[in-house]
Amino acid sequence: MTHADPDDRVARRAIVTGAARGIGLALARRLVTERYDTTLVDVDPAVESVASELGARSAVIDLTAPDASQRMRALVDDAPCWLLVNNAGIFDTTPLLDVCLADWDRLQTVNTRSMVTTMQAVVPSMIEAGGGRVVNMASMAAKLGTPGEAAYAVSKAGVVALGRIAAQEFGPHGVTVNSICPGYVLTDMGADTRNDEQVASWTAMSPLGRLADVDDIASLVAYLASDGASYITGQALNVTGGMCTS
Ligand SMILES: NC(=O)c1ccc[n+]([C@@H]2O[C@H](COP(=O)([O-])OP(=O)(O)OC[C@H]3O[C@@H](n4cnc5c(N)ncnc54)[C@H](O)[C@@H]3O)[C@@H](O)[C@H]2O)c1
Repeated sequence: MTHADPDDRVARRAIVTGAARGIGLALARRLVTERYDTTLVDVDPAVESVASELGARSAVIDLTAPDASQRMRALVDDAPCWLLVNNAGIFDTTPLLDVCLADWDRLQTVNTRSMVTTMQAVVPSMIEAGGGRVVNMASMAAKLGTPGEAAYAVSKAGVVALGRIAAQEFGPHGVTVNSICPGYVLTDMGADTRNDEQVASWTAMSPLGRLADVDDIASLVAYLASDGASYITGQALNVTGGMCTS
């Protein structure tokens, strides 16, 4: 199986995980607008109605479940995937000395191991078709991180490391792999851990004087999926409004 003509992206397949809401939904919406044949994946069954509103496909999959690999592989049975966006994630703030190890393991499994599962399931179809793009959602926490974010920051640093290795392993097959490190985006994630004072102090960290919008992340994903980004791989790209510059 080969990819559809790049000028006819309507048949180029894109898969976005964690797409029932938040950043993932914005990414999926943008990819549909850009005429990718997009599949939204989420553990939340709401993904079905959300996808149907967009005119896209959907799959309800818990990426930590034993059948996740098989279910993801089924998405590329009939056509190869051009773009895999590993976006699903969970957040936690707990002081390190209080972290419950079961919670630690769960967070690493959702945020990092699930990307191994999806890459193992989907990247072979890219390799067979002669190339593709993988975009993994990391976080500014991978590079900075704040007290209470140990499990989350470690999981996202793992995402960046995973992307670096995957880029080296898949590059010879024409598959690029990049991580995105957003700063603060006001989605449902972490909503219960923020107040007006925190939002004001995060906003002040950016020289641009604002927090990120979901579309700031979607623009970068659209670019990484495009032909113009064919020589960008193994990177951890900040979308932090200048909060993080390394
Ligand atoms: N919001 C931010 O400020 C921010 C900043 C940096 C990075 N990120 C990252 O961006 C990504 C999306 O964040 P968001 O703010 O949209 O979060 P969100 O909580 O709004 O959405 C996350 C989505 O992932 C899904 N999900 C969770 N566990 C899953 C599983 N086991 N299987 C399948 N789907 C699962 C959820 O159902 C949800 O739809 C995450 O990886 C997050 O770590 C977010």
